[in-house]
Amino acid sequence: MVKICCIGAGYVGGPTMAVIALKCPDIEVVVVDISSPRIAGWNSERLPIYEPGLDDVVKQCRGRNLSFSTEVHRHVGDADIVFVSVNTPTKTCGLGAGKAADLTYWESAARMIADVSVSDKIVVEKSTVPVKTAEAIEKILAHNGRGFSYQILSNPEFLAEGTAIRDLLSPDRVLIGGRRDTAAGSAAVDLLAGVYARWVPQDRIITTNLWSAELSKLAANAFLAQRISSVNAVSALCEATGADITEVAHSVGKDARIGHRFLSASVGFGGSCFQKDILNLVYICECYGLPEVASYWREVIRINDYQKSRFVNRVVSSMFNTVAGKKVAVLGFAFKKDTGDTRETPAIDVCKGLLGDKAVVSIYDPQVTGEQVARDLAMNKFDWDHPRHLQPLEQLSATDLEKQVAVAADAYEAAKDAHAVCILTEWDEFRGLDYRRMFEGMQKPAFVFDGRNVVDVAKLREIGFVVYSIGKPLDDWLKDMPAVA
Ligand code: UDX
Ligand code: UDX
Ligand code: ADP
Repeated sequence: MVKICCIGAGYVGGPTMAVIALKCPDIEVVVVDISSPRIAGWNSERLPIYEPGLDDVVKQCRGRNLSFSTEVHRHVGDADIVFVSVNTPTKTCGLGAGKAADLTYWESAARMIADVSVSDKIVVEKSTVPVKTAEAIEKILAHNGRGFSYQILSNPEFLAEGTAIRDLLSPDRVLIGGRRDTAAGSAAVDLLAGVYARWVPQDRIITTNLWSAELSKLAANAFLAQRISSVNAVSALCEATGADITEVAHSVGKDARIGHRFLSASVGFGGSCFQKDILNLVYICECYGLPEVASYWREVIRINDYQKSRFVNRVVSSMFNTVAGKKVAVLGFAFKKDTGDTRETPAIDVCKGLLGDKAVVSIYDPQVTGEQVARDLAMNKFDWDHPRHLQPLEQLSATDLEKQVAVAADAYEAAKDAHAVCILTEWDEFRGLDYRRMFEGMQKPAFVFDGRNVVDVAKLREIGFVVYSIGKPLDDWLKDMPAVA
């Protein structure tokens, strides 16, 4: 029996290992993490992450061939295949701060593998890392190992949150990079490919050299984010000209060379990957002496920042250029629907922008807790990541947070007595709200700012709302109050 151990029980490691365990009942799969609350969560009835379909998969396998443990050394020590799925945030200080990937967790995981091994191992990079990380890991293992042999593979994960189980069960492709030029490297690639081949068609399993696999992941995320920045850039032009971004995106996407997916205009992309991976790509380009390429990709992030600040400016300018003391309901805080994850969510920047203008914000999200919202809004990580486009906002004190931010139990409570509703996540339930009821409880004029194009604009205007929807023709009220981005 092969034993797989995954270091890191996060958004990637947890669901990925659960699906491997489901599809390979003869393989023992152990997920380890240094965080005992995380592991306790995975062993409980309430899993630490919200992901449709995940509960079912975990329930089927846990106690059979899937387990979660804090005994990192023991399980890593005797595993045949070790996946490394630890966090690789953007560096916040030192060389490459604000751009380069922080590989501290990765390096310590690699050193730990070398320290505790009692057998040969295949070490698999799962977390997204800069190109040539595998080479560095090989060196650490070779110089610190105790006579065991290690094969490094790069097997980047392409799952998206909210659809993780579907993506894992039926992936567009599985990518495995390794040293196919050596017999041992080739055998390692084949062994891992054999695991996925249990449920993934052979033609979707791609093998490449190590660096192609590492770079493909960064490039794929950069291309996806670029599509959103492209459509968001056009959305600004739509508002200025009277074109409708939904119609434009539909027409553009009908071209099979372009394709229709991933063309929804929005208040901006978020999530733990896109910005981090592009910054990483930018840094790598700079390091290799390719400043033109670096600035090409940096622009994708600049447009994303612009889109968020444009939204805030639209809200403020529409409401007579001031939101001071006005209650603003924020519907949705997660970076997309069907997840409770708030990493890099555009809602943080939009809320900070509104708070900077002294609004009183009432937030409702079906999956994000009040504590999480408070943590996110108290943080000042924006400084590092990119130049500021939003209102400069000093770190909010606990009392300011308490005075200016409330978390509501539902959308109606959030909107009660509010001047405006901002929709920042495309949760399905926001499409079916009773907007008439909401309107009646709000101050007048009542505004809806739809950052995800989920509402029926005509219907809401009929109710009496002043409606702004990204990239849609503006109503007269908004035309009279142009937003300066
Ligand atoms: C992404 C990649 O899709 C995935 O392949 C990779 O492994 C990790 O990063 P994820 O961040 O989970 O996945 O979600 P994704 O669906 O890509 O959405 C990212 C952001 O883009 C979200 O904020 C989403 O709302 C936004 N988005 C997406 C748009 O604004 N418009 C779109 O058309 C699509
Ligand atoms: C283009 C559009 O495709 C077409 O829809 C529009 O109506 C007119 O402009 P055209 O310029 O005739 O058509 O050719 P196209 O096949 O798009 O190629 C344009 C250029 O891009 C060529 O120089 C081609 O060699 C280059 N190209 C295309 C690449 O370098 N790489 C590619 O993957 C595709
Ligand atoms: P991702 O979205 O990439 O899965 P997460 O931050 O959700 O990232 O998960 C990474 C996990 O890795 C965290 O739960 C963290 O505690 C864990 N981790 C980081 N370093 C180590 C380590 N050296 N050993 C074990 N677990 C680790």
